[in-house]
Amino acid sequence: VRTRVELHDALASWTLSGPEPTDRRAVVMTMGALHAGHVRLVQAAREAAGPTGQVVVTIFVNPLQFGAGEDLDRYPRDLEGDVATLASAGADLVFAPTPDVVYPDGDPIVRVSAGRVGEVLEGESRPGHLDGVLTVVLKLMHLTRPDVALFGEKDAQQLLAVRRMVRDLDVDVEVLGVPTVREADGLAMSSRNAYLSDDERASALALSRALRAGAEAADGGAPAVLETASGILNGESGVEVDYLALVDPTTVDPVPADFSGPALLLVAARVGTTRLIDNQAVDLA
Ligand code: PAJ
Repeated sequence: VRTRVELHDALASWTLSGPEPTDRRAVVMTMGALHAGHVRLVQAAREAAGPTGQVVVTIFVNPLQFGAGEDLDRYPRDLEGDVATLASAGADLVFAPTPDVVYPDGDPIVRVSAGRVGEVLEGESRPGHLDGVLTVVLKLMHLTRPDVALFGEKDAQQLLAVRRMVRDLDVDVEVLGVPTVREADGLAMSSRNAYLSDDERASALALSRALRAGAEAADGGAPAVLETASGILNGESGVEVDYLALVDPTTVDPVPADFSGPALLLVAARVGTTRLIDNQAVDLA
């Protein structure tokens, strides 16, 4: 469905179909150009929704979360292919609005702020990005009214920001995180991988390699994790690191050198003109 009225009618007809009390509406939000990572989210949504529950997928390339000079205009789009993928993945409904449907009055005046979470790491490289993400996520939650919404751990800071928004603003939606889906060689799946040449794709493997090696160096504490990971990244000439950080997974604050407990190792890097991100849980004893 493409319009608010079509969406409203499709949601209402599921409610009228008399779902079981345990059935839920599960929503997966995407920007399309779907890959196996998105499909995993839809499968997890199917499980979360229950057998006669409703799985709704949104496809919307949200202009509000792209900065000037970013890839809004060349972001890959394939609505027909995506709908076919989603049908076989078990989605019940696809909401694919145009910008004027989501933003009928043009750019919204009132927006959601990710606060401190939106100012570090991704926020430092992409100012306003997470505010744009949260604004559209909240709007899509209001439009699709999910019981549960699923987000990938691949975009760890986004997931954390969504969790914080739901908590801080009392949004009545359960947020579920889904582990990162990777290619066989470790590269985290991303719609932006389509931009990579063969050589760049080979260089891009340094990201997941560095994260894995970093996590394996956890016995040496936080400094060893960061040194190991940055050693691998710096050894790959095709990779220009934007940030590498070891953070507290609930606040995105960098962990101190003597930190013990669960931490998150995050990387962003440019490979050619393509900006890639990845992350990995690290258990610091
Ligand atoms: P998009 O990049 O299309 O991603 C949609 C969802 O798929 C996000 O929750 C993302 O974390 C998840 N995802 C992407 N690659 C994944 C992978 N390899 N493994 C597991 N999950 C993966 O993220 C966005 O769109 C947008 O910011 C959005 C939330 C839709 C708001 O516009």
